[in-house]
Amino acid sequence: MRVHLTFDVPAEMRALLRGFRPGPLASADGAITLLTDRVDAAFFDRAPRLRVVAQMAVGTNNIDLRKAARRGIAVTNAPDVLTDTTAECAIALLFACARGIVRWDRHVRAGRFRGWEPFGYLGTDLAGSTLGIVGRGRIGQAVAARARALGMKVVFATRRGGLDRALACDFVSLHCPLTPATRHLIDGRALRRMKPAAFLVNTARGAVVDEAALVEALRRGRIAGAGLDVYEREPAVHPGLLRRDDVVLLPHIASATHRTRERMFALAVENLRCALAGRRPPNLVR
Ligand code: GLV
Repeated sequence: MRVHLTFDVPAEMRALLRGFRPGPLASADGAITLLTDRVDAAFFDRAPRLRVVAQMAVGTNNIDLRKAARRGIAVTNAPDVLTDTTAECAIALLFACARGIVRWDRHVRAGRFRGWEPFGYLGTDLAGSTLGIVGRGRIGQAVAARARALGMKVVFATRRGGLDRALACDFVSLHCPLTPATRHLIDGRALRRMKPAAFLVNTARGAVVDEAALVEALRRGRIAGAGLDVYEREPAVHPGLLRRDDVVLLPHIASATHRTRERMFALAVENLRCALAGRRPPNLVR
């Protein structure tokens, strides 16, 4: 079977592709794609033999699922294996926001640390704070378990409601997929519902947040800061964010550990293998 990969596979993982012949999209029976690939009608037009798209990510917002279905192309994703890793990254951003970890690191490196201060460098405790989690899927629940272990009180927002209550928390962490319903879910109105002392963390998809509205909310002091792993127009980052000391910016790394990325790739290959063998893949999206 011929497969097309939209990226280079490290030498130590190539054995997972045993039995497949990697090659161009034009002659591929299956493709392994990334969240950075636009998998739309133009992609499918270039792939007349394609029977399956195996996405090496849990999110599939870059794939036109309806067009794939219409052409009889199965789409799979790679959930579960990245749940803990992504939840850990969200918690890391909560800590980074709450205690100014990155900002004070820059401060020390700049030679501005003059000694211990009784009432300087003050942050916010996670223990005793409330955390609004938007999205009650696998990752949202994994973040909740960790937050509770840290002494936080968790409030969920789901498709069925609860957003305003979640936005009223001390911290808000986003864990919903990007869909037409969640695009710009966190807009100017939502940001006005947050507390001036609250922090926003986004490890989901950039476009869940209206980035321009976020910059404006930070500028006006409507919220205290943000921890972002994802952006509306990656790899571009709103210039208004780059200038700010009250935001922590990561390069979309929430699932980026050695173990998890290897597992995500292995799972994508497994899904591809099943689909091309005529079996039901474990993570069929559509
Ligand atoms: C990463 O962002 C993913 O969707 O897996």
